[in-house]
Amino acid sequence: MAGLIIAVDGHSSTGKSTFAKIIARKMDLVYLDSGALYRAVTLYAIGAGLIAEDGTVDAAQLDRHIAEGKVDIGFIRDTDSGTYVIALNGKSVEGRIRMLDISSSVSRIAEIPCVRRHVDSVLHRYGAQGCVMDGRDIGTAVFPDADLKLFMTADARVRARRRLLEMEQKGEKADFEAVYRNVLERDYIDSHRQMNPLRQAPDAVVLDNSDMTIDQQLAWLSDLLKQRFGITI
Ligand code: CDP
Repeated sequence: MAGLIIAVDGHSSTGKSTFAKIIARKMDLVYLDSGALYRAVTLYAIGAGLIAEDGTVDAAQLDRHIAEGKVDIGFIRDTDSGTYVIALNGKSVEGRIRMLDISSSVSRIAEIPCVRRHVDSVLHRYGAQGCVMDGRDIGTAVFPDADLKLFMTADARVRARRRLLEMEQKGEKADFEAVYRNVLERDYIDSHRQMNPLRQAPDAVVLDNSDMTIDQQLAWLSDLLKQRFGITI
């Protein structure tokens, strides 16, 4: 399966990363999380004081910092697990980038064209030799010739409940309404931005998992991989 590119796009908290990781394992491909790079840039912008109280981002300054090479983002291989973790300026930021303050600002950061260009070049550097990559615009913009494109969606309340559970399991406090608002807000910004908005590629296979268990999704995946690549999982 070396060299194949599988794009997994869709709405936030649809379980894209869980699913993409399973696909990567089954197909012996590297898993790359594009959203994590946008989150790492967001962490940088917060640290550099480039996001105002009202959420406005100083895009011109951020552009300058990126051009000056101050926002070095990438994936580093964790030798214990063999998986990639996200690094910002050489340090793993994996544990920090999923928190709600990052989630609240990330879509504003991700609509800035210089940020998208920066992230895209990193994604091409790591993914061009074959990968399973999840995000919002992988099948439409980053790798439009991907060998397989999935588009994942689910009811927004179901997604907010899943996200809340995930945060609670990590010991982060949050209330349902705040998480639900964040899910809706990100859906809106992601699908209305000018550059590479979230949308389903015409040749993507849709998976609405609102009422599906992981086992049902696996059965669905198993049929799909058999049909597309002749793989039995
Ligand atoms: O995991 P979750 O679905 O919450 O989001 P994520 O994949 O970590 O992505 C965080 C944010 O980055 C998204 O809400 C988008 O605003 C942005 N993003 C993007 O614009 N393009 C991508 N390819 C991936 C993420």
